[in-house]
Amino acid sequence: MKFALLGSFCILTLFLKSNLGQQQDQSIPNSDEFFISQFFEKMGINSSKSSHFYNVSSYVCLWEVVFCDSKQQSVIGLVAPNLGLTGPMPDNTIGKLKKLQFLDLNSNQITNFSSDFWGLISLKSLNLSNNRFSVNLPTNIANFGSLVKLDLSFNNFTGSLPDSFSSLASLQVLNLNRNRFDSVIPLGMTSCHSLTYVDLSMNSFNGSLPKGFGTAFPKLKRLNLAANLISGRGFDVSKMVSLNYLNVSKNLFKGSVVEIFQGSLEMIDLSSNHFEGHISQVNFNISFDWSQLIHLDLSDNEISGMFFSNLTKAHNLKHLNLAKNRFFKQSFIQIDQLHSLEYLNLSETNIIGQIGDQISKLNHLKTLDLSNNHLAGKIPLLAFKNLINLDISNNNLTGDIPLTLLQKLPWMERFNFSYNNLTFCDYDISLETLRSAFIGSTNSCPIAANSTFFKEKLHKHRGLKLALGLAISLICLLIGLLLFAFWYRTRTRMWDAKGSCNEENIISGPFSFKTDSTTWVADVKVASLVPVVIFEKPLLNFTFSDLLSATSNFNQDTLLAEGRFGPVYHGFLGGVVHVAIKVLVHGSTITDQEAANELEYLGRIKHPNLVPLIGHCLAGDQRIMIYDYMENGNLHNFLYDLPLGVHVNEDWNTDTWEDQETNENGIQNVGPEALLVTWQFRHKIGLGTARALAFLHHGCSPPIIHRDVKASSVYLDYNLEPKLSDFGLSKIFENGVGDDLAHGSPGYTSPDDVVTPKSDVYGFGVVLLELITGKKPVGDEYPNDENWKAQDLVSWVRGLVRVNHGSQAIDPKIRATGNEGQMVEGLKIGYLCTADVPLKRPSMQQVVGLLKDIEPV
Ligand SMILES: *[C@@H]1O[C@H](CO)[C@@H](O)[C@H](O)[C@H]1NC(C)=O
Ligand SMILES: *[C@@H]1O[C@H](CO)[C@@H](O)[C@H](O)[C@H]1NC(C)=O
Ligand SMILES: *[C@@H]1O[C@H](CO)[C@@H](O)[C@H](O)[C@H]1NC(C)=O
Ligand SMILES: *[C@@H]1O[C@H](CO)[C@@H](O)[C@H](O)[C@H]1NC(C)=O
Ligand SMILES: *[C@@H]1O[C@H](CO)[C@@H](O)[C@H](O)[C@H]1NC(C)=O
Ligand SMILES: *[C@@H]1O[C@H](CO)[C@@H](O)[C@H](O)[C@H]1NC(C)=O
Ligand SMILES: *[C@@H]1O[C@H](CO)[C@@H](O)[C@H](O)[C@H]1NC(C)=O
Ligand SMILES: *[C@@H]1O[C@H](CO)[C@@H](O)[C@H](O)[C@H]1NC(C)=O
Ligand SMILES: *[C@@H]1O[C@H](CO)[C@@H](O)[C@H](O)[C@H]1NC(C)=O
Ligand SMILES: *[C@@H]1O[C@H](CO)[C@@H](O)[C@H](O)[C@H]1NC(C)=O
Ligand SMILES: *[C@@H]1O[C@H](CO)[C@@H](O)[C@H](O)[C@H]1NC(C)=O
Repeated sequence: MKFALLGSFCILTLFLKSNLGQQQDQSIPNSDEFFISQFFEKMGINSSKSSHFYNVSSYVCLWEVVFCDSKQQSVIGLVAPNLGLTGPMPDNTIGKLKKLQFLDLNSNQITNFSSDFWGLISLKSLNLSNNRFSVNLPTNIANFGSLVKLDLSFNNFTGSLPDSFSSLASLQVLNLNRNRFDSVIPLGMTSCHSLTYVDLSMNSFNGSLPKGFGTAFPKLKRLNLAANLISGRGFDVSKMVSLNYLNVSKNLFKGSVVEIFQGSLEMIDLSSNHFEGHISQVNFNISFDWSQLIHLDLSDNEISGMFFSNLTKAHNLKHLNLAKNRFFKQSFIQIDQLHSLEYLNLSETNIIGQIGDQISKLNHLKTLDLSNNHLAGKIPLLAFKNLINLDISNNNLTGDIPLTLLQKLPWMERFNFSYNNLTFCDYDISLETLRSAFIGSTNSCPIAANSTFFKEKLHKHRGLKLALGLAISLICLLIGLLLFAFWYRTRTRMWDAKGSCNEENIISGPFSFKTDSTTWVADVKVASLVPVVIFEKPLLNFTFSDLLSATSNFNQDTLLAEGRFGPVYHGFLGGVVHVAIKVLVHGSTITDQEAANELEYLGRIKHPNLVPLIGHCLAGDQRIMIYDYMENGNLHNFLYDLPLGVHVNEDWNTDTWEDQETNENGIQNVGPEALLVTWQFRHKIGLGTARALAFLHHGCSPPIIHRDVKASSVYLDYNLEPKLSDFGLSKIFENGVGDDLAHGSPGYTSPDDVVTPKSDVYGFGVVLLELITGKKPVGDEYPNDENWKAQDLVSWVRGLVRVNHGSQAIDPKIRATGNEGQMVEGLKIGYLCTADVPLKRPSMQQVVGLLKDIEPV
């Protein structure tokens, strides 16, 4: 504005140049020209080198730094910033410019005023910002009665601000930022009623504010008293009706915070004081316009109570800092309506419970600090797009750090996950970062055992590598997909091609994996060099690293079950084929070659009621077996956890039961859910399992004894066909602990001394009884009219069958779905199978025959 005004003087100046142009010889003593050139000269400026802003051979009003009045007679403005003016102002120079209204000497090295400086009584604007004044401000300042703007910021003014300030009745802008004033703010200042902008920040003003400070400035828009030593109780802004910026941070203010919320403040910074009071009471102050609020910092005070509910009305809030106060224990703040929020700091605010999911709605968030609270539960999804600062340290958070978040870290400026109970998996984190930002977190990556690995990771050119890797992978994937789509056109399943694409993809072991009950180690050097054999597709070059990626490094989340032999995981091999991956954890004494031979043999055993073993991987000591994934889980879950979670084929009337047997059953018309609890379906499972065992016992040479027939070994595939799993494992498992394992599971174990096929018959008998009674082999309730008390399913059913009360044992859920006589017969077959003496038990072939006799039609 000033320059616009002065600009018009310049135009006038040019216009008048022709008339006055010839007055340029030597400066006339005591002319404005003389005073100014003297000023520059004495302040160390060499005229011959500075012709661009003052050329003594041209008229003063034409000098770049000078502004004259409309008559081009008197200098009214001198704007000479950043010229290297050094030292105290000399007397008889600019102090003599009687008409001077604007003086801007900012960014020089001036150290003191001249004694005649205070004669510049016309001065309206004085800018001495960023100089080297290290003196007191004299009371003579009172001479400047017309002063509108005073900027003395960035100097070293000391002592007190003179009380004569009271004379500056026109003063609108006062900037004393960054000096060393060290007194109370003078009462005189409260006479400056025109002030609109006051910045006294970063001094050492002390004491309390002068009386009447709150009511003195009706036009004040901006008040910054930050970083002083000002004390006093409360802060009444109710009469500062124009105020929209209030910064009193880093002082010693006390008293209630409540009264500050008045009018229509946009920026409030009360941080680092001793403000107190129940913030909840702010709710009842209806004279505050929350929609104006953009910036609110109440951090580091002694405010108590609960977060204010009216905060959600602050739709335009961008910056919210409530950190370090004495709030009551409370749950996460309701913030989803604060959609403009860019900065949120709730550190040390006594929050309990979980991080609200609503936080994911804050799209603009750049900084989020929730550290030092009592937050528990998992890290919710965050809106990461703009997030560059994240601190959630010192809480009680659990679970995995979301992968999406980990991937974002390289683009973030700062993050801290320390002192929680978090797990994560990221190979690319440097040791340094681990030690600063992940203290106490668990790296659940398989290579966690040796952290030197991280050091060796390169960090440079990451983006490039990523892009390159991505491009190569994409090309490989495309070519691979095309090739294999062609080759395997006729197959129902498509395998993803891999093989040639494992450039740079070197993951090295040994690898260690944890489940709830065990830790297993795969002692392999380079994951991509350990082959996975897929029997029917020998050309596919899958490796251990494909198993790692299929199961997210054998992540607990992919764990299907923990069997007696070890954990079973599932995943998509090559990203396409859903497989179950069983790890035989307890080691084995047979050699790799023997194990491979045995597994190859098992891979050749095919039967519609056996879960096919499709491949294996020998990773160090671990024998890893790969099976088709059974979508509908095992019979144990099916019987006792149903009907929740069962996969039901949508097209199931056409696809599922196309099998001859099931068509004979005539059950196509039954709805899916109802069908799961029918005698027909239970019978079908029993018969399928019996067929599988008959095949192992009689169709294989030498016969294969399963040794662990139980409900949880019977799986249900996508089409709800029963399939027996885990056959033939004991051989691969033979070692010291083998005996213990060979005896089967509790409730299914035959009393036999020697394990024979008849031991499997016993186990099958128990499964059959489960199918008909719906009761667990042990630990269930076995109700009885008679006086005896059964300890387990077998003795209960046998007891009832023996006295012809078998029908009492039938699962009430299926009783009405079929012929009860058939069900009682089924119990009798179970009775035969569970005979104490192995010889009295029928063979599996006979069992199949018996079951077919009672097949429901
Ligand atoms: C000004 O510059 C001239 C020529 O460059 C030099 O002779 C003279 O000493 C300088 N004066 C000051 C005060 O630096
Ligand atoms: C100073 O002003 C005169 C007259 O306008 C001009 O001739 C001369 O070149 C200027 N000197 C410099 C160094 O610009
Ligand atoms: C600053 O200048 C005043 C005269 O204007 C003088 O009295 C005072 O001693 C000077 N202070 C210093 C530190 O030079
Ligand atoms: C004083 O000059 C500085 C530097 O140019 C500027 O930032 C400041 O706004 C000026 N002060 C006033 C009151 O105009
Ligand atoms: C103020 O004084 C301090 C210490 O005497 C000095 O370091 C600093 O540079 C001075 N600042 C200015 C703007 O003169
Ligand atoms: C303010 O600071 C000055 C200088 O340190 C000291 O003399 C004065 O007593 C202080 N005033 C108050 C009210 O603390
Ligand atoms: C308040 O002033 C302090 C000190 O000058 C500064 O650091 C802070 O950013 C200011 N707050 C706002 C909201 O401008
Ligand atoms: C603040 O919230 C309270 C209730 O929580 C309500 O009574 C009051 O009207 C709200 N104030 C404003 C300005 O919305
Ligand atoms: C975390 O939870 C434990 C047990 O509940 C508790 O002892 C501990 O103080 C909590 N830590 C934090 C930071 O809340
Ligand atoms: C960490 O979490 C795990 C499970 O999430 C829990 O078993 C363990 O006790 C927790 N540790 C602490 C110190 O809270
Ligand atoms: C970790 O690996 C490095 C090199 O891969 C090896 O030198 C070091 O001995 C290993 N440390 C441990 C504790 O296994």
